[in-house]
Amino acid sequence: MFRSVVTRIFATSSKLSRRNLSCTASCSSPLSTKDIFKREQQYGAHNYHPLPVALCKGEGVYVWDVEGTRYIDFLSAYSAVNQGHCHPKIIDAMKKQVDNLTLTSRAFYNDVLGEYEEYVTKLFGYDKVLPMNTGVEGGETALKLARKWAYKVKGVPKNQAKVVFAADNFWGRTLAACSSSTDPDCFEDYGPYMPGFEIVPYNNLEALEMAIQDPNTCAFMVEPIQGEAGVIIPDPGYVTGVRNLCDKHNVLFIADEVQTGLGRTGRRLCVDHEGVRPDIVVLGKALSGGLYPISAVLCDDEIMLTIKPGEHGSTFGGNPLACKIAIAALEVLEEEKLAENATKMGEILRSEISLLNPEVVVDIRGKGLFTGITIKEMKGIDAWEVCVRLRDNGLLAKPTHGDKIRFTPPLVINEEQVFEAVDILKNTINSL
Ligand SMILES: Cc1ncc(COP(=O)(O)O)c(C=O)c1O
Repeated sequence: MFRSVVTRIFATSSKLSRRNLSCTASCSSPLSTKDIFKREQQYGAHNYHPLPVALCKGEGVYVWDVEGTRYIDFLSAYSAVNQGHCHPKIIDAMKKQVDNLTLTSRAFYNDVLGEYEEYVTKLFGYDKVLPMNTGVEGGETALKLARKWAYKVKGVPKNQAKVVFAADNFWGRTLAACSSSTDPDCFEDYGPYMPGFEIVPYNNLEALEMAIQDPNTCAFMVEPIQGEAGVIIPDPGYVTGVRNLCDKHNVLFIADEVQTGLGRTGRRLCVDHEGVRPDIVVLGKALSGGLYPISAVLCDDEIMLTIKPGEHGSTFGGNPLACKIAIAALEVLEEEKLAENATKMGEILRSEISLLNPEVVVDIRGKGLFTGITIKEMKGIDAWEVCVRLRDNGLLAKPTHGDKIRFTPPLVINEEQVFEAVDILKNTINSL
């Protein structure tokens, strides 16, 4: 039904016709794609397996490779670029601040940190914020707060605090994150592991209650939709159930909204779909619109003020440059109503991709612009090969956990661009 209102250019265009399409930025890489692959392979650690494409510029929903070919970005740097590549308002805020003051450390006050703290706490409705840099540091901070709260407020005996996680969680790569992981790629050969962690199945309230009735439990940390696991959506009511059980057993509910937050699922936070307020919220990724590593932990005074001066921090956390970027990134989400756009565009996207060959795409799920599909491997073509062919046709996506592909375009995507992507998806999948 949406098709009739959209003028579309069929997306099976050759690479040639996608050269330099309407990009105002210029790409000045002197290296070829092959040279770029070779240099990284030689000098960089081999801890990633990138899709073979070498990018040099981005604008809105599009990125360009060094040969000048344009792609629609269906990953958005794992949802860090919700506001679109190089959003002019965020770039402008960064440029203005960079000439004034970039870093003071927290040894001194600066004139921007408080402005950001006031803005972000009022926006999300929490007493206080603790600014960090990466998402995983946000998770670590939340766990430290929960343990402090256990000893100072709940009365858990010293060093006995327990944190519960859901199986298939992903919250980064520190030793604590590896210790709570059920993915061998994340934890294998990194032991010994952090004590005091327990894992329960995701989307299982009975198992959660069994685990958290232990009076030493201080927190349950969970993603409201599991991202890295392949966009796994729990049953309706799960998040409400988590809230109720945490209340019943005096356990903190930590929502890891690093990937699901900031408009991605069609709400400011994913927990907003059920009107639930976690005790601690962890944000990252799109908090900077992709310009800079910025994360934040939000909670109320009873929890936040258990940490005293000198007990936790980060040299770069809350620096004035990051604060100005984060304010601008949040303002863009609000002013451009990107959560609402995610709901509308997500519905169009999923209704169109539900028409893809069901023998290849065996499952489609999502909320807002957070969509996952499962590919049935056939004739040696797996999710990786599908992504390579999507790249050949002008769309960049990445497999997650074998047979799953996550579709997370920037939230600024419009209807015409959604149909451009749908044409590429249909053309690619139907040609398999
Ligand atoms: C849900 C979730 N939490 C935390 C993280 C860690 O964020 P970062 O890579 O910035 O440390 C990720 C990263 O993908 C994530 O998906």
